[in-house]
Amino acid sequence: MANPHRITPEQLRSRYWFDNPDHPGTTALCVERYLNYGITLDELTSGKPIIGICQSGSDLTPCNRHHIDLVKRVKDGIRAAGGVPFEFPMHPIHENVRRPTAALDRNLAYLGLVEVLHGYPLDGVVLTTGCDKTTPAALMAAATVNIPAIVLSGGPMLNGWRGAERVGSGTIIWELRKRLAAGDIDYAEFLSRASDSAPSIGHCNTMGTASTMNSMAEVLGMSLPGSAVIPAPYKERAMAAYDTGVRIVDMVWEDLRPLDILTREAFENAIVACSAMGGSSNAPVHINAIARHAGIELNNDDWQRLGHEIPLLANVMPAGAFLCEEFHRAGGVPAILHELQGAGKLHSDALTVNGRSLGDNLQGRDTQDTDVICRYAEPLVAHAGFLNLKGNLFDSALMKTSVISQDFRERFLNDPSDPEAFEGKVVVFDGSEDYHARIDDPALNIDARTILVMRGAGPVGHPGGAEVVNMQPPEALIKQGIESLPCLGDGRQSGTSGSPSILNASPEAATGGGLALLESGDQLRVDLKRGEVQLLIDASELEARRKRLAEQGGYRYPGHQTPWQEIQRSMVEPLDRGMTLESATKYRDVARQHPPR
Ligand code: FES
Ligand code: MG
Repeated sequence: MANPHRITPEQLRSRYWFDNPDHPGTTALCVERYLNYGITLDELTSGKPIIGICQSGSDLTPCNRHHIDLVKRVKDGIRAAGGVPFEFPMHPIHENVRRPTAALDRNLAYLGLVEVLHGYPLDGVVLTTGCDKTTPAALMAAATVNIPAIVLSGGPMLNGWRGAERVGSGTIIWELRKRLAAGDIDYAEFLSRASDSAPSIGHCNTMGTASTMNSMAEVLGMSLPGSAVIPAPYKERAMAAYDTGVRIVDMVWEDLRPLDILTREAFENAIVACSAMGGSSNAPVHINAIARHAGIELNNDDWQRLGHEIPLLANVMPAGAFLCEEFHRAGGVPAILHELQGAGKLHSDALTVNGRSLGDNLQGRDTQDTDVICRYAEPLVAHAGFLNLKGNLFDSALMKTSVISQDFRERFLNDPSDPEAFEGKVVVFDGSEDYHARIDDPALNIDARTILVMRGAGPVGHPGGAEVVNMQPPEALIKQGIESLPCLGDGRQSGTSGSPSILNASPEAATGGGLALLESGDQLRVDLKRGEVQLLIDASELEARRKRLAEQGGYRYPGHQTPWQEIQRSMVEPLDRGMTLESATKYRDVARQHPPR
C-alpha cells in the first residue's frame, strides 16, 4: 500500500536551503544565486517541491540524447503539479564507445549522483535512463540516498530493417562479424548493414542490457506502468515524460521513497521477469548491485532458484525474432507480468511509483500478440532462466539458457537421468588483445571440441570487466561452417549477444580465481545438469599450480591508466556480488541524515 501519510510544505527537504530563518545567511546565499537566471523568490520559498531531473543524455551519449527534448515535457508535468524543476547532468555513459568499458563508469556515475542528491536542495528526482549502465547507476543512487525518485526511460529505437528483414542493434554486429570472417561481405558492407540497426533516436532496440534494465526498472516498481519500452519517437513517450513529471511531485507529498518500493519481493519479481524476457546477461550483475545498495542480499543462487524454471515468453532478439517496437505493441512489460501473475510467479503486492501495487497495475494488460509475447502455457522455450554454475575453478558463473540451441539443450540439459556432459580441451586467452592476436594461429589446434577460455577480463583484470567472453571461432573453422564454440570466462558479454557462454566467473583470475590456474590443453567437463564445471586434473596438481602462481606474484594484468581505474580496482567486488564498491554498500537512506531536521 502507498504511504497514507502526507508531508507538509514545512517538511520539504529543500526548506533547509531555501527557507531557513535560523540560518538567514545560508538561506540568502542559496536563494540569491538561483534567482540570477529568472527563478523567482516565490518559487523557491513558498513551499513548492524542488524536483531534480538527472539528465543522462548528451552528445556523448546518443542512446539517451532524446532526453534533452523529453525533459521539456517532464518539466511541464512538474510545473502542472506544482513543483519546480532543476535539471542537472549525469556523468555520460555510452556503452559502445567508452573505453576501456562503459561498465567502469556505472559506479562513477553512481557516486556522482549520490553526492548531488545528498548535497543539493532536492525533494525528489526524475532519473532519465536508457543506455545500458545509466539505468543501474541511477537506481543504485536512488537506493542509497532514498529521496522520492522515479525512472523515465528514453525508450528504444524503432525497428531496424534491411529490406524485409529486421535488423537488431548489437545482435546484427555479432552475426556480421562471422560473415566478414567467412569472406561473405566486405568491410564497407559490414558497416552499411550494421548501420541499418539504428534508424531513429533511442537506445538499442533488441532485448540487450538497455531494454532489459529499463524493463527491470518498471518491474521493480520504479517507473510508470507500461512506460519502459515505448519506442523513443512515439508520441506516448513524450506523454509518459509528462506523466512522470506530474507523478514525482505527488510522490514527494506522499513521501513515497525508493526503499519503500525496492523490497526483496520487488527484486524477486525482477529475476522472474528478466528470465521470461530473455533479458541481458548483465542484468544479474546490475540487479544484484541495486539490491545490495537497497540493503538486500541477492545472489546468483537466487537467480537460478527463482528464474531457471521460468519459460521464455518474449520473442525478442537476441533470444527471439522480433524487436522492441513489436514488444511494446504486444503489451510490453505489463503483458509479460500479466502472464507471470496468472501463473502465480509474481509478488503482486509489491508497491510501485504510482502508489498502487504491481498486480493492480496489470488489470486488463493481457498480451496483444501471442507471436511476440507468448502465453505462459505456450512458451518459446521452457526453463529459460540463468544457470549458476560452480566447480573447482570458480564459485559462480552464469549461463543464459534462453539462447541455448534446441539440439544442445536436448543433449546436455533436459534429461537429468542421462549423465551426458560436455567435455573439451581448453585454449586459454589472457584478455581480448591476446585473443585477437592468436585466435587464427594454427598451432593452437582449435577444433569443434575446443572450449575457448577468456580470463583477465573481470572488473579488476580489465577495469570494469570486459564484454569479451563470447569469442568467435578461428576464421578457418567459420569457413568450414562451425560458427560457434563453447566459451567460458571471467568477463561479461554484451547483452545483445545470443551466445550461451559461461560468463562472469567469480572470483576472477586477477583476484585469485581458479581460471588463473588453467593451461591450454587442459580438459574441462561442463555438466549443466549438475550445475558444475570441473577442471579434470588431480587436486594435488591444482594445488601445485596455485603455489607456483603465488610464487610468481599472482596473475598479472595491465596497470591503471587513470586515477578512477586505480580507485575502483582497489575496492570493487566480484561480478556475482554486483561489481559494487565495497565501502559504498554500507551507506543507506543517507538523505534522512542530511539536512538535520
Ligand atoms: Fe546504448 Fe545499446 S549502445 S543502448
Ligand atoms: Mg555492452
